[in-house]
Amino acid sequence: MITLGIETSCDDSAVGLYCSERKVLASLLATQLEHGATGGIVPEVASRAHLKNLPPVLRAALGEAGLGLADIDAIAVTRGPGLLGSLLVGLAFAQALGEAWGKPVLGVHHIEAHLVSNHLERDLVFPALALVISGGHSQIFQLRAPGDYALLATTRDDAAGEAFDKAAKVAGLGFPGGPVIERLATAGDPHAFPFPLARLTDGGLDFSFSGLKTAARLLWERVGPLSGQALADFCASYQSAIIRQLLDRLERALRGREAAACYLAGGVAANRTLLAAATARLAPAGILVHAPSPRFCTDNGAMVACAGALRLAAGRAAGAGLAPFSRGALKSWR
Ligand code: KG4
Ligand code: ZN
Repeated sequence: MITLGIETSCDDSAVGLYCSERKVLASLLATQLEHGATGGIVPEVASRAHLKNLPPVLRAALGEAGLGLADIDAIAVTRGPGLLGSLLVGLAFAQALGEAWGKPVLGVHHIEAHLVSNHLERDLVFPALALVISGGHSQIFQLRAPGDYALLATTRDDAAGEAFDKAAKVAGLGFPGGPVIERLATAGDPHAFPFPLARLTDGGLDFSFSGLKTAARLLWERVGPLSGQALADFCASYQSAIIRQLLDRLERALRGREAAACYLAGGVAANRTLLAAATARLAPAGILVHAPSPRFCTDNGAMVACAGALRLAAGRAAGAGLAPFSRGALKSWR
């Protein structure tokens, strides 16, 4: 079965083709360069760019897979959370294709798509825990089966990706911050600068990154601007503090819970230092640690197609609704 996935929740116009038997057939996207001059995403500009980008990206994806629209069995499209105008463009595009070609259209939650990006290169195993960390989210879920998701922890303030992006901004390293901080950190000493580990007074599992962000800014104001080895040390120490908090919460979430696997997902899961640290910590306990290849960690269409395919495989047909939403928690559908 071949599913087409369409993702337009933010500023990437992404299309993917996923085959239940052969995995990813194509995954392409157009990144919007229109926002460079404004220093932030302008919603109307993003919507207009999706309108322009989707047809050529779809054509290119079909070409890469050697398929025509008639070969597609179903269409999956992100409903939210995200920018409403951007979501509407993707949803209208998917619905028009579904009508014209007589294919079922399924609405997908963006966080579910990130979760199942771990199914794109190897089959998911259950029960599992999943850490979804992106520019807008930091959450831990318990996965008992496809469609069965229990939220265990979320962030009290900023997301992990925001923490990377903010420190990069303070250090004048540009956007997005995660990849550049990871690259510079490889030559740095993670113990050079002390950054705190946030613990909640109620002992909860939730994340908090705002204190870390402030600590980075205050440190930079005191000792910056840094360059060369000192900058590498700053990046390594800061990244290590973020990883320390992520693993602290993950290990505590695992206590008393059965898990055959621990999945990392979302843009921050592209960080291979995090993957190596999580593997070193959890693999000795017999837990499989997996993160998708970096291109499937950040927003993409293949993960949306995969989420739709898993739902169809579980006998859940289309029709759950195609209305976009800007905010909203992931709910189980099983
Ligand atoms: O999932 P994503 O592409 O978009 C959202 O849904 O937010 O995530 C983007 C975030 C950015 O904050 C970026 O800095 C972070 O993912 N990121 C990374 C890495 N690559 C991207 N963070 C740490 N290490 C990386 N290698
Ligand atoms: Zn995302």
